[in-house]
Amino acid sequence: MSAKKLTGNEIRQKFLDFYAQREHAILPSASLVPEDPTVLLTIAGMLPFKPIFLGQQPRKYPRATTSQKCIRTNDIENVGRTARHHTFFEMLGNFSFGDYFKPEAIAFAWELSTKTFGLPPDRLVVSVFREDDEAFAIWRDQIGIPAHRIQRMGEEDNFWASGPTGPCGPCSEIYYDFHPELGDENIDLEDDSRFIEFYNLVFMQYNRDAQGNLTPLENRNIDTGMGLERMAQILQKVPNNYETDLIFPIIKTAADIAGIDYGKSDDKTKVSLKVIGDHVRAVANLIADGVTASNVGRGYILRRLIRRVVRHGRLIGISGEFTSKV
Ligand code: GLY
Repeated sequence: MSAKKLTGNEIRQKFLDFYAQREHAILPSASLVPEDPTVLLTIAGMLPFKPIFLGQQPRKYPRATTSQKCIRTNDIENVGRTARHHTFFEMLGNFSFGDYFKPEAIAFAWELSTKTFGLPPDRLVVSVFREDDEAFAIWRDQIGIPAHRIQRMGEEDNFWASGPTGPCGPCSEIYYDFHPELGDENIDLEDDSRFIEFYNLVFMQYNRDAQGNLTPLENRNIDTGMGLERMAQILQKVPNNYETDLIFPIIKTAADIAGIDYGKSDDKTKVSLKVIGDHVRAVANLIADGVTASNVGRGYILRRLIRRVVRHGRLIGISGEFTSKV
């Protein structure tokens, strides 16, 4: 079995179709401007569903699937410098609102990864929350993953929450191994030159209050996130997310305007081109969702992103107006 070379659009469609065939309603992406007042921007695929997880809104469907536009700016300085930090990205997700739970979520994720996307099982390593014996047993006994390829990890890595308060729960992640020749003896999932985490399955079963107390939610839910750009990097066999067909055309346009060749550029120039490729997607999608540049709130985020695009354009020698072209 070998991984299937797919475009970003094909990956998105295959994900949504897979879950639609398993009785999930395909819902459109919500706006980047969230209804949730606790965050400035939509930061995760689950955000539009937070009131359902918290029992504040009735569910319309027991199961849903989306490709959600997201923006996170907490790691903005890493954008372009690492293989996979972004401001804008699409989070593919499948959600259960008090319907299926761990066994089904894990089985679906495994089938999608290995059959639909054709990732070889021996290239996949999974993590579970340190105390989650149930998830560990499902991966080992139901899916058949050797125990040494199921890593137990702490709260920092494997307990997911959308913010300091709100719905949360232990999670289980699937990683792709770029270097299986290094062997199973020294699996270190923190080594991002070897492993990429591409699918996070959150077993959303608690609400955390401002004092940090966990209260079980009325329902046990599933919230997942598969980074579209990450799956594209794996399936398109490129060295980073920026060189996927989702982002590279923007980089190529900027490079053409600057009269440079990305492939022959030094690292500093590549960083600038990657920053432009990343930020332009954030800027275009923020404007499409009605955000205007300003000095405060999300308007300031937009302004900062535009300024960074212009600055990196100047750094690679573009002197005139260029943002509308990219
Ligand atoms: N909500 C799951 C994630 O963003 O990874």
